[in-house]
Amino acid sequence: MELLKVKGGKPLQGTIKASGAKNAMTKLLVASLLSDKKCTFYNVPNIGDVEITANLCREIGSQIQWDKEKQILEIVTPHLTSCYVPQRYSGANRIPILMIGALLGRTDEDIIVPTIGGDLIGSRPVDFHVQALQKLGARIEYREMKKEGAYFAQAHKGLKGAVIEFSYPSVGATENAILAAVRASGKTVIKNAAIEPEIMDLILFLQKLGAHIKVDVDRTICIQQTTQFHEVEHTVMTDRNEVASYAVAAISTKGKVFIEGAEHLHMVPLLNKLRELGAGFQVRKNGIEFFYDRELRGGIHLETDVHPGFMTDWQQPFVVLLTQAAGFSIVHETVYENRFGYTNVLQAMGADLQLFSQCLGGKECRFAASDHRHSLVIKGPTPLQAKEIWIPDLRAGFAYVMAALLASETSTISNVEYLDRGYEDLVGKLSSLGADIVRVPARKIDKTPAAV
Ligand code: EPU
Repeated sequence: MELLKVKGGKPLQGTIKASGAKNAMTKLLVASLLSDKKCTFYNVPNIGDVEITANLCREIGSQIQWDKEKQILEIVTPHLTSCYVPQRYSGANRIPILMIGALLGRTDEDIIVPTIGGDLIGSRPVDFHVQALQKLGARIEYREMKKEGAYFAQAHKGLKGAVIEFSYPSVGATENAILAAVRASGKTVIKNAAIEPEIMDLILFLQKLGAHIKVDVDRTICIQQTTQFHEVEHTVMTDRNEVASYAVAAISTKGKVFIEGAEHLHMVPLLNKLRELGAGFQVRKNGIEFFYDRELRGGIHLETDVHPGFMTDWQQPFVVLLTQAAGFSIVHETVYENRFGYTNVLQAMGADLQLFSQCLGGKECRFAASDHRHSLVIKGPTPLQAKEIWIPDLRAGFAYVMAALLASETSTISNVEYLDRGYEDLVGKLSSLGADIVRVPARKIDKTPAAV
């Protein structure tokens, strides 16, 4: 167990390079299982979720060479040696459920996947996944096992193309449906599909692999059965969540950071909100520079949404930024019903925040009739005080690091494994920008707090 010790009060200054995207790379690894061809990935982030996914693939027969220095990963799965994802992966992340879509067309055996995990940010069911795969002819059932449950899936009679219409454009369910459709006979049409940039990256990869796949108007994705597969070389897209995190960290600490590799096209909703706040940015040839040059004006309203809306994964760091902007601002979370759990720690650090179950601001969302507290009012600017903090999920974790960077004393942050899942070399990157942050074994801190 390790802890972060963060002493705030310093502006972040300098240049960092954005890493490859967690939410693209993990899916690309699973997609490579569709064929027995070698796939070579570049710009692969060295993060926990990629490690977990690579190990998952090894469990079922993948051979993987990962040069972490060069950020290159080669994967080939000549034969499936098993279709059973061991229970130790239960709850690890959201990836195992996608194994079903990738493997159904490649094996006659039962695919067994334990309960699905992910961050503590809401109920996160998989009903859309199951319904979509069933539409394609899969039989899927949830069975209680010795310790906990698992999904059993099979398509003994083969998969057959179908029309799938999602009631909500779920990212994971769209990915699962696309993966299964690649090997399903005939044509599959996915309506009201998610069209996040990470899904576009998956589609680019699949096209290179041999898939006949097109993105039509109105969130419709059409896929024809693929029988011929090819070797693939693919550069993983930049992590727009990492870019947003460092961007708002730079501005809130009144600093100036150039993020090499930041893609303008993927950051548009964030840049619009930064402009409303009076925060500075300049889009340059090979990245984006983010800076503070005048007082931040609050009074903004933002709503998280599916692409091309403001990402739910940007919400937490952005809330910390809003605690530093003058006036009242409103954030309405419409993707997850329970993604403000982290705000109690910010309040304890001095932030002036209030949660509401009503949809505040713009439109009514799916949670309008529920009592989930999914709207937040923020009054700024408020100074933040250092605290002992326990991280509940990945993005909240970054928000806490940001809050600690704003506090003048030293904060202690535990459960940093969450950050390792999604932020490559967090301490190295922040240190290179001048942050006072160290990672130490938990015991060392407990015994010698003054030494750090
Ligand atoms: N939903 C259902 N049923 C389903 C699937 C989803 O009700 O079968 C609901 C969810 O409960 C949620 C909403 O639909 O309220 C959106 O979920 P979605 O399926 O789109 O999310 P996901 O695929 O589980 C991915 C990212 C998340 C990101 C969301 C939204 C990965 C591994 N995770 O999750 O990323 O927030 O899309 O963009 O790609 C993160 O990186 O920190 C993270 C949480």
